Amino acid sequence: MRAWIVAAGIFASVGTALAQQGPAPVGPLQEKLKAVEADPAALKSAIEAGRKAASFCFNCHGENGFSKIPEVPNLAGQNPAYLLEQIRKFGSGERKDQFMQGLIKVLKDDERVQIALFFGNSPVKPGVPADAAVVPKGKELFTKLCVRCHGDTARGDSTIPRLASQQIPYLVTSITRYRDGTGVRNNQLMSIATASLKNEDIKAIANYLTQLP
Ligand code: HEC
Ligand code: HEC
Repeated sequence: MRAWIVAAGIFASVGTALAQQGPAPVGPLQEKLKAVEADPAALKSAIEAGRKAASFCFNCHGENGFSKIPEVPNLAGQNPAYLLEQIRKFGSGERKDQFMQGLIKVLKDDERVQIALFFGNSPVKPGVPADAAVVPKGKELFTKLCVRCHGDTARGDSTIPRLASQQIPYLVTSITRYRDGTGVRNNQLMSIATASLKNEDIKAIANYLTQLP
């Protein structure tokens, strides 16, 4: 009896996990983003408009999305559909950060799309590992546990974030939060994928990821 309950629980959680990974984010703004991306002239003007609308964001996320503050993520080169989805999540409170939640509320729909396209099309600058000796271990763990979703090059896709070239402290904080189920961000797939990681493993993965282009 007890074994059956446990088994049912595992199936139920796998079911939810798959549902959460789901297809790429949907909604009118995601449709708009795709339409603009498919039209080179519209894309060019959206990126220009995004550059202006994003100038306030540069205060923390850095000029063109290359952050100089350790706990603030780089947005340069991040996948536009992922950025737009995170903006939506801050707006709805599904993802928590006091400052970002307040700020995102003032952005108009068009600005959200433009800003996501602007940052997503900004060039990436890889970081320097804080501890080069742990990079091979980070690569090994990443290949075993993370590649199937984030990809060989760690660039993700429309639902999955780029991790390559991200800042080490932000990576460490984010991975640790998913592992520990703090509720700041909820994603069951990420909780499952990170459950077995020790703190040194997380550091090794972050040192590996930051130097990827
Ligand atoms: C006062 C500093 C500050 C400003 C200004 C700011 N951000 Fe942020 N932003 C943060 C911090 C800190 C985080 C990381 C939150 C966390 O740890 O989850 C973040 C995270 C994000 C993320 C999630 C990135 C990811 O990899 O998941 C997006 C998207 C984002 N910000 C967009 C913006 C946009 C767009 C603007 C301008 C309209 C902006 N931010 C302005 C501090 C700021
Ligand atoms: C089953 C698919 C899957 C696997 C396996 C997976 N991830 Fe993720 N990861 C995701 C998804 C989906 C998100 C976005 C979740 C959200 O919106 O909070 C994400 C988000 C992240 C983020 C946040 C990035 C940002 O910019 O804020 C980090 C860091 C991360 N993953 C690292 C890892 C690491 C390290 C591993 C391996 C130990 C891993 N992931 C394995 C699907 C996966």
